[in-house]
Amino acid sequence: MEKGISGAVIRRLSRYYRYLGELTEKKVERISSGELSRIMHVTASQIRQDLNNFGGFGQQGYGYNVKYLYSEIGKILGLDFQHPMILLGAGNLGTALANSPDFEKGGFRLVGIFDINPELEGICIRGLPIRMISELKDFLSSQKVEIAILTLPKEQAAQTADLLIDNGIKAIWNFAHIDLDTPEDVIVENVHLSESLMTLSYNLTEYRKTHDKKS
Ligand code: NAI
Repeated sequence: MEKGISGAVIRRLSRYYRYLGELTEKKVERISSGELSRIMHVTASQIRQDLNNFGGFGQQGYGYNVKYLYSEIGKILGLDFQHPMILLGAGNLGTALANSPDFEKGGFRLVGIFDINPELEGICIRGLPIRMISELKDFLSSQKVEIAILTLPKEQAAQTADLLIDNGIKAIWNFAHIDLDTPEDVIVENVHLSESLMTLSYNLTEYRKTHDKKS
């Protein structure tokens, strides 16, 4: 990550990437910052400011070359590499994630699914058999895996993370509601949908406050 780049900028880059991907699919070749701003509901100056963090990619009077910007943002986000991933916990959430083909678009490739429930052993999700956690060590020593997705009960998350780290995993996408204590060289990204819901609730409450004042 570029030094000093905030999480908010990185989140917006992911959004730019998504929108630019859609424009590329629609064969749009170039777009002005004003037009990009309109479809994304982000000000044109914000877009320029965000992209200037990485040297800027627009040309005065031309706007942005969609394909080029898409590919450059992809590189910034590290999407020009394959990211082999495994998933731990093939329950409701794990199965939903494993079933999502959207991962592949960004180079994220699910290569293994693990659980402890013997009833799930061998069941395939999008062609991948669910394996038992006892196979994890051998699997990791024979396959290149970069990211582990934790969709298991929070009581199991810490010890599973330790096992993964001991076996070379450097990045964890953590859905379990627990803050993992990991070494500095292990990157953890926590995803908590309930926090997003609370943000929605806050914004709704704020909106109502101003709206109620006006009426
Ligand atoms: P679930 O009970 O349907 O699935 C959990 C799965 O993990 C089961 O198949 C179980 O056999 C497996 N498991 C248990 N211990 C394991 C271990 N040591 N190694 C591998 N697999 C193991 O639960 P659900 O609804 O899929 O939730 C999974 C986790 O995700 C929970 O911690 C839940 O709190 C969390 N969650 C987080 C959300 C978020 O926004 N971050 C949203 C929904 C759930």
